[in-house]
Amino acid sequence: MEVTPLNASFGCEITGLDINAGVSAAQFKPVRAAFEAYSLVIIRSKPLTDETQIAFSEHFGKCEKTLKGNPAAGSVFARQSNIDINTGETIPADDRRMFYQKANMQWHADSAFKPRASLCSILSAREIPGAGGDTEIASTRLGYAALSDARKAEIEALYAEYSIVWSRSLIGYQFTDEERADMYRVRHKLVRANPANGAKSMLIGAHAMNIAGWEQDKGLALLNDLCDHCTQPEFVYRHQWQDGDVMIWDNRACVHRATPYDAGAERRLMQRTTIADPAAEALDQEAVVA
Ligand code: SIN
Repeated sequence: MEVTPLNASFGCEITGLDINAGVSAAQFKPVRAAFEAYSLVIIRSKPLTDETQIAFSEHFGKCEKTLKGNPAAGSVFARQSNIDINTGETIPADDRRMFYQKANMQWHADSAFKPRASLCSILSAREIPGAGGDTEIASTRLGYAALSDARKAEIEALYAEYSIVWSRSLIGYQFTDEERADMYRVRHKLVRANPANGAKSMLIGAHAMNIAGWEQDKGLALLNDLCDHCTQPEFVYRHQWQDGDVMIWDNRACVHRATPYDAGAERRLMQRTTIADPAAEALDQEAVVA
């Protein structure tokens, strides 16, 4: 197995690891180390199956269950696709399911809106379009490091509030009352240090709706400013998918977004598993704001 950095400190590619053959604890160790060091790991692979993806994902921790609204709700998969989960046909562009997925084109960190925030996501390419449908990842670790000392001091102790009802409303999507039943507004620390190496990053992106205790206009202005800063080209990697690729990103240290493709003419199926952050467990009880 070989780990090749894409950049001095953000992103790496791993070759020589066959996830479908099963990954032992010893094989996983350098994968985890690369994840902590580079925040983004790309593994060139034959397409995974749902079973091999779950087995690999569980090395990172417990897979989250997907919320209502996603076609795979209730399972451990967040299905990012224009292919109907039941019929295998492409979903019409004006269907509510496609509207729901448009929100993924906003910069976001998966599950920031949950009482326990996420450690990482694992996205595997099952069917890729001939053109488009890339995924962009931005490092909030690099972005944080490039902030002025005054800005770092200003944000160090802040908590931010996160909501998926908020982030979906930004694109005009409304959840039904039933879907909203297990959705909350939650609070997490804005700046967090990686327990393995101390590197600081920020939990930002579309789910972040305010700074706790601030007027929303002021809180959003700060959050948008931080997001614009972190998503400048020098902090962004754009992945052009090849069949079977697996990408792991650190939700504590990255925001990401999907990019467009011709969903009327092409097929795209990506399966995402998302791992809850064990270090965030202690916050469970106090995270829910409303
Ligand atoms: C996601 O936002 O989780 C998926 C990104 C993508 O489909 O490229």
